[in-house]
Amino acid sequence: MNRRQEEREENEQTGTMQPSQPKTFASILQGYLSRRTLLKGTLASLALAYASPPPAPAAEEAGFAPLPHSDADQLLVPEGYEYNVVIRWGDPVSADTGAFDPAAQQPAMQAGQFGYNADFVGFLPLPYDSRNSDRGLLVVNHEYTNPELMFADWDGKLDGKTRAMVDIELAAHGLSVIEVQRRARGGWGVVTNSPYNRRLTGESAIRIGGPAAGHPWLRTSYDETGTRARGTLNNCAAGVTPWGTVLTAEENFNKYFGGSLDNIADTRVRSNHQRYGLRDETGWALHHDRFHVAKEPNEALRFGWVVEVDPYEPQSVPVKRTALGRTKHEAATVVLTVNGQAVVYSGDDERFEYLYKFVSAGRYDPTSRSGNMALLDSGTLYVAKFRENGSGEWLPLVFGQGPLTPASGFTSQAEVLINTRHAADLLGATKMDRPEDVETHPRTGKVYALMTNNTQRSPAQVDPANPRAYNKHGHIIEISEDRGDHTASTFRWELFIACGDPNNPGDGAFYQGHTGGSWMSCPDNLAFDDAGRLWVATDGQPSSIKKNDAVYVVEVEGPQRGLAKMFMSGLPGGEICGPAFTPDNRTLFVAIQHPGEAENSTFAHPLSRFPDYTPGMPPRPSVVAIYRTNGGKVGS
Ligand code: FEO
Ligand code: CA
Ligand code: CA
Repeated sequence: MNRRQEEREENEQTGTMQPSQPKTFASILQGYLSRRTLLKGTLASLALAYASPPPAPAAEEAGFAPLPHSDADQLLVPEGYEYNVVIRWGDPVSADTGAFDPAAQQPAMQAGQFGYNADFVGFLPLPYDSRNSDRGLLVVNHEYTNPELMFADWDGKLDGKTRAMVDIELAAHGLSVIEVQRRARGGWGVVTNSPYNRRLTGESAIRIGGPAAGHPWLRTSYDETGTRARGTLNNCAAGVTPWGTVLTAEENFNKYFGGSLDNIADTRVRSNHQRYGLRDETGWALHHDRFHVAKEPNEALRFGWVVEVDPYEPQSVPVKRTALGRTKHEAATVVLTVNGQAVVYSGDDERFEYLYKFVSAGRYDPTSRSGNMALLDSGTLYVAKFRENGSGEWLPLVFGQGPLTPASGFTSQAEVLINTRHAADLLGATKMDRPEDVETHPRTGKVYALMTNNTQRSPAQVDPANPRAYNKHGHIIEISEDRGDHTASTFRWELFIACGDPNNPGDGAFYQGHTGGSWMSCPDNLAFDDAGRLWVATDGQPSSIKKNDAVYVVEVEGPQRGLAKMFMSGLPGGEICGPAFTPDNRTLFVAIQHPGEAENSTFAHPLSRFPDYTPGMPPRPSVVAIYRTNGGKVGS
């Protein structure tokens, strides 16, 4: 999420920056108590956490000394660890583009270079189906661009962009596949000229698959079939499938489109755009008709999908999997059930939006990689409803069922999928505090879903799954599918962590009983290590606590459950994304996204010049590899 855009939206929607006025912890606790049906275990531990906090455990138990929050212009890792920058914005990916010079940048050069704002990082071993931890493919997507930090000569006005600037931005979006190799003396390097190295951009050919493919709403003057999309944009947290593909998720696609919605003839298309927040605020429509909603009203409907990419087949055409619905997708986390069905969890990252899961109709076939490629084209999409008694329900988004009928404006499953948000509204799903990344525990199967924050939730809008008004620190929800079955239509849930400072009662923070260790704000990205610990990367600490975003390691099982320890600190203005481990857990890859992004931070005067720190060179979003100097497992 573009933090500055988020703050801008907040100002626009509320008229002024909403001051954070969290209810006191006591009143929150009272709120829990008054909802007599809330999970009793949660209540008990919540009360216990503040009545008799256990002593802080010794730091060495996690194998590293937790770092303190920092605002330094320096990437920090614990003692005994090192990192190296594997690749950064402008480094060559698929072509020899020559030395990167931001002052002489061109669209074609950018299309062969590593893109901007790296977000998701996936490590896929080479060869396919191995657990090699020394050589593999890094799949990294490029969420958005910061023109104020990319261009020396942009005047900062949306209509002040040249065609070349817009085309460079389009080429800096999408995704990179790079072959990487562990180096003998530590760290990782890119294998230049690898046949796997590949860029997808905002212009790449992408097929549209699944139930909505070919629907009239997906047809444009460029593509009268409704099956051939052009590019992928604003890709955020993602996932890796058991068959070695990457599911990358299109998030805030709305911000690329300009033009007035008033002249769109099809009122259902117009209301769809309104529901997804399209507004006239882009410079791209000036130079590209397809981003002008009055000229190409359907183009925006071709974004907001989960896109499946096969990094092992460089010539393969990625596919937008419409069966997974159209939202501002964040994460597409895949888990196989015992009988081989594929289940994909995904958040819709906006305030008061929903948490989804998709259950495939077919089953994974370990003997046929190609046979699994259509697995995500048919199945059932569900949206989550959290009940006060700690139970929950997955509500099916199926045309003809419940309110999803012609009486509500839907005439097909394709329309339900293209306007997933409206369908979920009608089903009465629970409006969450910005659902972001989701991960499943590798052993317990429990599902962890992040809610980054929601400072617009009023006291009247508080519910058990979103328990704090003006929630500026976010929280983590733990879901246990009934019978341990990811296809189940019902679940149990618990508040796992309410982020914030446990020493500040006004934050209403909750760490499963722990007041020792570290505390965090604005959880955004997740990964599990091979010991079953949860790694949480944040997006928003510069706003919420005036400290750099960071990565925390959180125990989820046993007596240390809820204990968090800060493992690394990022850069001023930059969130940390990924994270991803090699199979041997000896390398942790993370993305440093939008370093130096801040009000009044510009190409000429950036808040940070990470990672080069060279005069005249702006900050460069990067992927870094973190490893122990003694070669041991990261975090242990
Ligand atoms: Fe792209 Fe929701 O962060
Ligand atoms: Ca994110
Ligand atoms: Ca993740």
